[in-house]
Amino acid sequence: MGRKKGWGHRRGWVWCVVVVVLVLTWLWRRQEEDFEEEGLWASAGAEAAFWSAERRSSRACPKVFVYELDPELGDWDRRSTFGQTSVPGVYATEGIDENANLLEVVLTRLASSERCSTRDASEAELFLVPVFPRAKHWSEWVERCEAMQREGLLQKLYALPHLREETARRHFFVLPRVGYAPKCVGWWTSPMPPLVRQFARVAVGGYEEFEGDFQRAKTLGKLTASERSRPRALVPRLVSAPYVASVRWAAARREAPPWTNTGPPRRFLFSYSGTPHGADKAVELRRALSALCEGNANLCAPSGAADTADGRLRSTLAKRNATFCLEPPGLTPGRASIVADLLFGCVPVLFAPEQDRLWPLHWGDWVRDSRLYVSADVLLENPNSLLETLAAVPEDAVARMRRAIADRAKAMQYATDDMPGDALEVLLRGLADSAASSGTSSRFRRR
Ligand SMILES: *[C@@H]1O[C@H](CO)[C@@H](O)[C@H](O)[C@H]1NC(C)=O
Repeated sequence: MGRKKGWGHRRGWVWCVVVVVLVLTWLWRRQEEDFEEEGLWASAGAEAAFWSAERRSSRACPKVFVYELDPELGDWDRRSTFGQTSVPGVYATEGIDENANLLEVVLTRLASSERCSTRDASEAELFLVPVFPRAKHWSEWVERCEAMQREGLLQKLYALPHLREETARRHFFVLPRVGYAPKCVGWWTSPMPPLVRQFARVAVGGYEEFEGDFQRAKTLGKLTASERSRPRALVPRLVSAPYVASVRWAAARREAPPWTNTGPPRRFLFSYSGTPHGADKAVELRRALSALCEGNANLCAPSGAADTADGRLRSTLAKRNATFCLEPPGLTPGRASIVADLLFGCVPVLFAPEQDRLWPLHWGDWVRDSRLYVSADVLLENPNSLLETLAAVPEDAVARMRRAIADRAKAMQYATDDMPGDALEVLLRGLADSAASSGTSSRFRRR
């Protein structure tokens, strides 16, 4: 009897141990999965504080090796120009603008950069895989992405001579907008070879674009609810970069850059320019703001027509004369116009919570010091209340925001020559830090 009891006692223990082991294994796997899916960019706030733009901008620029891809994968004629200008450092481009030219801008700059590029793969910190660099519209992107699969170009793309387990995380793609991701499934998103899955993917716009009320059916709105709720599984290692705005400064320029202007109060309370497009709520918001601007010509800086380069330049320059610049979401929460605001020292007014999470590497740790937030729902209820809200912001609060912009906006600007701490350098530093951080966390990774 005593023996029997002892065995039963021991058997209880064995079960206990088995259960504990199972639970631990399950927890471990879950942790692995979370880590894989969340990646480094899980929480914009925490990440931004850790990799603050200031900390990154004070360090050397990582050297990038740019692959020469098969001609079928390259469509660039290297004639990329900055566009037309009438004011130093401010450009307006004809046709395809800041919505689609990020890769072209990155390549142009790397081609002449002493600080950030190398032709020697052995000293490279990062490897750029420049697929279809030429700026192009959404429809052309979609065609290209579909052709990639059809014509067996993926085979050619993945035959990269310097791609190995140790370098995979240091490789990156650049696609203009994350909204194109679902259509470019196969090479830019997933599924894909394990080494390519480890590449970083740079776009203007990050995981915040999958949230909220502003996806349009044509792009991210097409995703199923479950895909939208797990964007990290759909697009691994997505790194968000600011739009290339119309201000392109150069280290060689002598004048003070426009973002450092903290000068006298501005002539107009606000400026707004935008066409009613995007998701339904964006259209409603934009109509209300247009009406507000038209009805208050004494308060709203006059802008130009949206369909010509001249008109767009006029709208852009209007930001110099306004204290606040209204930035409703459109096709996505991000707008190139927000970047231009900061570069002209105009305080952006944001209307969607996702907008506070835009471009975490570049803006994350100072966004709240440099913007005003007004809820879209509150605005739509009574658009006129915005005038009172803006007029009621104390002068010293405005001065503090303009000071923060003057100190930090350099990180939002893609310079035309090597300028330490500009948007390109902050981006590259962020990519290199993210790649290196796998060293400390690799025990969490399954492969
Ligand atoms: C607008 O801003 C520019 C640059 O700061 C300035 O030269 C111009 O006089 C301003 N215009 C008005 C109407 O305030």
